[in-house]
Amino acid sequence: MKARQEGDGSDPLHTALCDRLGIEYPIFGFSHSIEVTAAITNAGGFGVYGATRDLPDAISERLARIRALVGDRPFGADLLLPGGMADKNDWAAAEAELPQGHKDFVKQLKQKYDVPDPVGKSFFSSMVRSNELFEAQADAVLESDVDMFASAIGTPPHIIERAKAAGKTTLSLVGAPKHVQYAKAAGTDLIVAQGYDAGGHTGPIGTLSLVPQIVDAADGIPVLAAGGIADGRQVAASLALGAQGVWLGTVWLATEEHQLNERVLDKLLKAGSLDTVLTRSHSGKTCRVIRTAWSDEWDAEGAPKPLKMPYQQVLIGELLTGVMENEIEPLMYEGAGQGVAWCNEVTTVEKEIERLVAQARDALGALR
Ligand SMILES: Cc1cc2nc3c(=O)[nH]c(=O)nc-3n(C[C@H](O)[C@H](O)[C@H](O)COP(=O)(O)O)c2cc1C
Repeated sequence: MKARQEGDGSDPLHTALCDRLGIEYPIFGFSHSIEVTAAITNAGGFGVYGATRDLPDAISERLARIRALVGDRPFGADLLLPGGMADKNDWAAAEAELPQGHKDFVKQLKQKYDVPDPVGKSFFSSMVRSNELFEAQADAVLESDVDMFASAIGTPPHIIERAKAAGKTTLSLVGAPKHVQYAKAAGTDLIVAQGYDAGGHTGPIGTLSLVPQIVDAADGIPVLAAGGIADGRQVAASLALGAQGVWLGTVWLATEEHQLNERVLDKLLKAGSLDTVLTRSHSGKTCRVIRTAWSDEWDAEGAPKPLKMPYQQVLIGELLTGVMENEIEPLMYEGAGQGVAWCNEVTTVEKEIERLVAQARDALGALR
């Protein structure tokens, strides 16, 4: 564990944001893993737990587990809060909207890859991304003692207002300069500028083009750079672009703490930047994932266009759950960004942070 230090101005890596948030390095890490989130915070960064795939009860319990691991060090929780979703978390109603041609395509995939029916339910086979679900998830996060509330694919002002009233640092992920106005109007404290290179849901503007535009539009709100960052030279470059820190997701997938499924881990370790693909087949919104037979099948000639969110997930939820439960290797995938090129061996969160910090210091030193 790293001792918390106050910056004396001599270390360019120790940005103003580090002192404001009580962290040693301006390295923010997003993860769906409790252990990774806690390890990032304990290594001197700021861990943010992705709670979007969790039911509200599970969120409370998982955030409490992270708190037990980090003590009084800061960490955050993140929710996907897109607008334009259904009001109710009503699976049957959403299922009734699915076109027959799409259902036939999914049935044919199930047969082609011999995917058994799943035994259990997963988030993807039981929850409809809906306002009802988002409110319940947000309640669970805001009632917890988490230090930061992060929202992505949307910045609902009433939830941000509640988060601020609850004393949380608030953060919005944005993918285009025009999104900054919503973060500003809602009064978010920090903005993540997440570029095209990123793993997970992302937009069409490259990180290098996006970050300085967001810094300008943010008008003093601290910005973190995200998308494809996996090497300390990119951390140094992000500071040069005007960011006060970086926000990374892909790099943690290959850590011991993450415990990624072995088959998916194998694909990740072998993948280079060309082996990720932007697809709507995961959720209905553009999402960068490791390219596998899953994305290829949806890209193939004659395949139907993926449905919009939340219907794509309702369409594929059962099949995906069967794929994961039975480890149907060709169809297994995970979100991953172009920085996957740096994921070549299993390592630890602490080693990754040490590597990023050392490389960033070298790069900054070389500029002097
Ligand atoms: C597997 C995976 C899942 C992700 N899920 C979410 C999510 O639920 N909410 C969110 O705000 N961002 C999510 N992201 C995006 C990250 O927050 C982050 O912006 C992104 O990973 C940065 O780019 P990088 O992957 O190139 O480091 C996810 C990223 C990955 C790799």
